Amino acid sequence: MDVKQQPFGQTKDGTVVDLFTLSNDNGLEIKISNYGGTIVSVLAPDTQGNLADVVLGFEDLAGYLQPHPYFGALVGRFANRIAGGKFTLQGVEYTLARNNGQNHLHGGLKGFDKAIWQAEAVPGEVEVGLKLTHVSPDGDEGYPGKLRATVLYTLNIDNELKIHYTATTDRTTVVNLTNHAYFNLAGAGAGDILEHEVMLNADVFTPIDETLIPTGELRSVSGTPLDFSELTPIGARINQEDEQLRLAGGYDHNFVVNGPAGTVRLAARVHEPVTGRVMEVYTTAPGTQFYSGNFLDGTITGKAGAVYHKRTGFCLETQHFPDSPNKPEFPTTVLEPGDEYRQTTIYKFLTR
Ligand code: GLA
Repeated sequence: MDVKQQPFGQTKDGTVVDLFTLSNDNGLEIKISNYGGTIVSVLAPDTQGNLADVVLGFEDLAGYLQPHPYFGALVGRFANRIAGGKFTLQGVEYTLARNNGQNHLHGGLKGFDKAIWQAEAVPGEVEVGLKLTHVSPDGDEGYPGKLRATVLYTLNIDNELKIHYTATTDRTTVVNLTNHAYFNLAGAGAGDILEHEVMLNADVFTPIDETLIPTGELRSVSGTPLDFSELTPIGARINQEDEQLRLAGGYDHNFVVNGPAGTVRLAARVHEPVTGRVMEVYTTAPGTQFYSGNFLDGTITGKAGAVYHKRTGFCLETQHFPDSPNKPEFPTTVLEPGDEYRQTTIYKFLTR
């Protein structure tokens, strides 16, 4: 097990940003930057032991400083959408940036994905890690309360990349943290992800309106193209004439993970049939946004000159349900002073 630190580059205002490499004895190697807490690369073995980088992104910091759709980034203070960029807490209405049509998306204009996190390498015998800390001031992007967030990334010998999030506040606020890595288990840049087989451990999802805001209903996936109770190729039904898929341009839905939120349980399993790479996702979060990279449009060139076309990466963003601050029927995202927000997600890399 090893954790190494090296410079990754400088931001426009001259701040030096680092790149941390976590590796284990199976050859798994994960690079994470404290710029946005970004997962920059994940080298994972296939059935033959061949390593490939299975996350989309860039080779250098300059790539991440340009506009991009949250490749590998930590997302906060609130992952996914808040309707109209507004919510009310204790009788006070808060207004957030509207950076997705009329809605607020992924923490706003300068979310946690663009923050420079304080970083500390955590060496160890059975796991190695990177501890990231970020203090978001009261009023940041419109949110109340000074929020102190920590994210601990660890890698162990079982090829588990664990992400443990915590946050505390000095005023009542809302919080919902995730990571927005785009995976392609055949290797980033190796074409689309439509042949990847996905299993989602979710009997119900949160239906959305045409701006991708949940209606508040929980609906069974059964009999719909959102039924992934068995391993099913992503592409099998993605172009089907279906109201849900048409609204989102493919998969971009919040699935309600079966089993009690707050305990670590299986959320998803993904199998890439050619390389045999498998990724399992476990989480304590109530939901998972399964996004099939519909908005990738070939305008971004990433690692090794690869052009990221539509549906060349998928995301499994473990999260609270979108728009929870405006949906009292959803599990609460309210954080009170003295309480601690906690979320744990594990991405496990295997072969079959
Ligand atoms: C999430 C959202 C998508 C999209 C991407 C980023 O997955 O649900 O609609 O905004 O992030 O492009």
